[in-house]
Amino acid sequence: MTDEGAGNGKKGRFLDSLTEYARDHRAQHWKGTFSQFLDEIVSREPRRFTRNSHEYIWDMFRWYSDQKRVEGDGSAGKDLFAHELYGVDSALDRVVEYFKAASAGSDVGRRLLLLLGPPSGGKSTLVILVKRALEEYSHTDEGAIYALEGSPLHESPLALIPASLRGEFRETYNVEISGEPSPHSRARLEDEFEGDFLHFPVERIFLSEASRVGVGTYAPHDPSTADIADLVGSVDLSRVAEIGDEGDPRAWSWSGAVYAASRGVLEMIEILKVKREFLYLLLTLTQEKNVKVSRFPLIYLDETIIAHTNLAEFQRFLQEKENEALLDRMVIIKVPYTLGYADEARIYKKLVSRATAFQDVHLDPHALRLAAVFAILTRLGDSEREDLDRSKKVRLYAGEDVEGYSESEVERIRTESPDEGMTGVSPRFVINAISNAITRSEARSLTSMEVLLALKDSIDSDARMESRQKQQWIDLLVVARKDFYNRWVKEDVHKALFASFEEEAQELLDKYLDEVEAMLDQREVEDPITGEIRPPDERFLRSVEEKIRISDSGKHSFRQEVVRKAMVAFKAGEKFTLDSHSRLHEAIEQYLFEERRDVLRLVGSAARPDEEAQQKISAVQERLVLEYGYDVHSAREALNYVTTLLSQE
Ligand SMILES: Nc1ncnc2c1ncn2[C@@H]1O[C@H](COP(=O)(O)OP(=O)(O)OP(=O)(O)O)[C@@H](O)[C@H]1O
Ligand SMILES: [Mg+2]
Repeated sequence: MTDEGAGNGKKGRFLDSLTEYARDHRAQHWKGTFSQFLDEIVSREPRRFTRNSHEYIWDMFRWYSDQKRVEGDGSAGKDLFAHELYGVDSALDRVVEYFKAASAGSDVGRRLLLLLGPPSGGKSTLVILVKRALEEYSHTDEGAIYALEGSPLHESPLALIPASLRGEFRETYNVEISGEPSPHSRARLEDEFEGDFLHFPVERIFLSEASRVGVGTYAPHDPSTADIADLVGSVDLSRVAEIGDEGDPRAWSWSGAVYAASRGVLEMIEILKVKREFLYLLLTLTQEKNVKVSRFPLIYLDETIIAHTNLAEFQRFLQEKENEALLDRMVIIKVPYTLGYADEARIYKKLVSRATAFQDVHLDPHALRLAAVFAILTRLGDSEREDLDRSKKVRLYAGEDVEGYSESEVERIRTESPDEGMTGVSPRFVINAISNAITRSEARSLTSMEVLLALKDSIDSDARMESRQKQQWIDLLVVARKDFYNRWVKEDVHKALFASFEEEAQELLDKYLDEVEAMLDQREVEDPITGEIRPPDERFLRSVEEKIRISDSGKHSFRQEVVRKAMVAFKAGEKFTLDSHSRLHEAIEQYLFEERRDVLRLVGSAARPDEEAQQKISAVQERLVLEYGYDVHSAREALNYVTTLLSQE
């Protein structure tokens, strides 16, 4: 197919999707009287229509998992976040747990959910995912949700059923009703239907933030002037003139965020910045499911409040004694930055792919990972353990093997520093630094080293940061380079010295294993080429082992361990490869590399390389481009960089 053909095919499919979407969204509308609602809708599956907001959200999580299971670990709920939020599993687990428990009737449902985390740590993203999924869910059959027509609170129609009949309703339908009609609907019921609620119109609603149905957001612009009316409304003077009675609910402006969010979710951004008066109102709303507005009796409201705040605000809040009681009424979930650099790099990838600045810009294969390592380094605390520096922690948290640390040890280290990830460099900082560098230089290709420089520039020019902090972060850039980048780039260049590195490495590994086995069994080996029988090649074994500083006294136990691992692989029906043993991996790479490093000396030599040397260098460069993700610019830089490293060794 030609490109154009493919494009047309895609466009055609998109049109199909649009058509399907429009059809789905049209077909589902429903409108009728209350008695039709009971008869046609509720009687089919009563439980669906008495769900409170927590139950509704929990069902949405499960629906999402059933529908879209593509990624994720299979635990209901977390699938919703899997595409967008990486490396913050334990926070997500706790959020999902909260809804599960609240939906099961636990008291947590009467406490406000507060996400506590550093800037740009994914809090808003988390809430947005919940909001968008709720909107989608409300369009499905399972998520169909109904309300009294025209009510700004879109309360459940079942709220019309008088208290005296609710017992009978329970016996008939086997579900419990809660809630009361809003003052607005109550007035309408009297005026238009003379109290005959069976004729009150009911409609299916679709949650939508844009239409202010079931999804609300409140952000304090300026806390000092913020008015509680933003949340609960106020008298609507233009309507008073029309209606003639200030006390009439229809003369009230019901535009407050708590009404918009009724039945669904209210997001409170930077909640601790708002006046205490706001906070009381919201806490009462979650606990008692009502709000008190001057001229009306208590107004019943069912909604889930998800609030967020950052650490600085939170600590200020904690310092005021009178806030202690308020804390009891919140469920606080920490949403820290991720501490895994692979996850962090994935965040950058996501952000980069969405930013126009990055289009057509080549980043070398380690650029984002390296920036991620730096970010994680800034988020860690210093350990009290003597030999555990931050670099080791970064590797341990990434699940890499570090000599002397077992998996259970890593868990212990994590619990020793519960505040890690609550401070440090944010993903936004890194992405801004890199995109600034791109726009400034109009570069089309950035190497890892250029990314580090961009980060350094951003730190230097950050007016808000103290100089001590600046220095510390700049030092960490150096740590990231030395402890990570040097290793990565050397490995790439080393591999590119070989036409087929993997094959040669595997051959060498097999040879090492054969010799070790023979040595341990005290038998002779047959040379595969000459066929001659000889004792195992101790010199060869040692020359491999010395690359990773295995001492003569330690060699025996090292060899035994290698053989043991090989046996495990063998029994599992797997091949013993470089990936099966990280230290041996390193040794083999070193060994092979030292055989070839002369080529690199040519790069650095002052004399103009002759043609043959030049060809060898070009071949390495080409392999870096073809097989290891470099472009011409970054391949050349990588070669030069590694050459310089070598000359310093
Ligand atoms: N763990 C993560 N996984 C994936 N993306 C993330 C993660 N953390 C942050 N991001 C991305 O970083 C950007 C900023 O995140 P977001 O706005 O959600 O943070 P926030 O916690 O609300 O920040 P603020 O406190 O500044 O409002 C978003 O584009 C988000 O997708
Ligand atoms: Mg935010």
